[in-house]
Amino acid sequence: MLETVELAPRDAILGITVAFNEDPRSEKVNLSVGVYQDEHGNTPTLKSVIDAENILAMGPSNKAYLPISGSTGYAEVVQQLVFGRPPDHMAGAHTPGGTGGLRVVADFLHENFPKASVWLSDPTWPNHPSIFAAAGVPTKTYPYFDQSTNSLAFERLLATIETIPSGDVILLHGCCHNPTGIDPTVKEWRQVLQAIAKRGLLPLLDFAYQGFGDGLEQDAAGVREFAEAGGDLIVCSSFSKNFGLYRERVGALSFVCSTKDSAAAVQSQINRVVRANYSNPPAHGAAIVETILRDQRLRESWENELAHMRGRINGMRQQLVDALEAQGVPGDYSFITKQRGMFSFSGLSKAQVEQLREQYAIYVVGSGRINVAGLTPANIDRVAEAIGAVVGK
Ligand code: LMR
Repeated sequence: MLETVELAPRDAILGITVAFNEDPRSEKVNLSVGVYQDEHGNTPTLKSVIDAENILAMGPSNKAYLPISGSTGYAEVVQQLVFGRPPDHMAGAHTPGGTGGLRVVADFLHENFPKASVWLSDPTWPNHPSIFAAAGVPTKTYPYFDQSTNSLAFERLLATIETIPSGDVILLHGCCHNPTGIDPTVKEWRQVLQAIAKRGLLPLLDFAYQGFGDGLEQDAAGVREFAEAGGDLIVCSSFSKNFGLYRERVGALSFVCSTKDSAAAVQSQINRVVRANYSNPPAHGAAIVETILRDQRLRESWENELAHMRGRINGMRQQLVDALEAQGVPGDYSFITKQRGMFSFSGLSKAQVEQLREQYAIYVVGSGRINVAGLTPANIDRVAEAIGAVVGK
């Protein structure tokens, strides 16, 4: 039987790193996957994480299963981080990464709202449609990006929301939109949430970059607007990036419900999905996050490390704009400094992305998304020169 299986295409993001690793050229640069790199091109383990691991290593060890929905202590600190003041009626789970949380949501929707479609921004993270397709949930798209102005297609976004059938789900990026780096302002968030409430849609916020935009609190503004407005809400958090815990797979799922009874019912359905999927979550990453968030000294140290990562990325944005200008690349690239998070949506075409890879060993995602966190003082001029060459300066 297995001989009939066909080769699957490489993953749109992680597959690029596979190709990068296979590339023998020493000057190669990986600006594809969203992983933070320091000024030397390394992805360091945060000091606050190492300190928390040392504390955990000295404490009592327990390798028994966690409950299906994970650690309750972790859920508490996550809810404070995400919502500030957590809403009254919540359900949720501690999940293997943000992706694990999204897959639980997808299975939950398929089971409980079999007629609902999930509306995704155009463009979005390429794994979004894959996750919902794998769970048998149909997806549709709403406009998000205005190519002519490199900004949010706000009017078209609102107009489309007004046409979405009641009972559908709309997925929004809580901050640092992936891939465009363009987020709504607080005023725009309010208008979006009003339009969503008016249509009777269920908002799902993918919140994978808290702290990478303007700060932990500032980046939570959209999520908190929704929570404070009081309707139903689902938030998927990831701590891969802001705690640098990529391979520990640590995330969380928070459902805000309107009553105690609906929260209990939702929780029972989440538990069913998790049990049939991965049974219960891995503990280590969540224990690190909980240890850091509960210890004032560690928390301060983590916040400083996060601020440093954010500052370096924003600094590289400006340096990229300067380097492109210095190379005489035609066009106004100042929009790069207005984008937030790890990514810049460069406007490079598929053919230009291919040329960057083939001729210059520079790897970016097919949509033209550049991981700004992969730029360093050592590679930025070469990257700007190569971009200049492929756009035909
Ligand atoms: C990305 O968009 O590069 C990250 O979210 C990593 C991933 O899993 O795709």
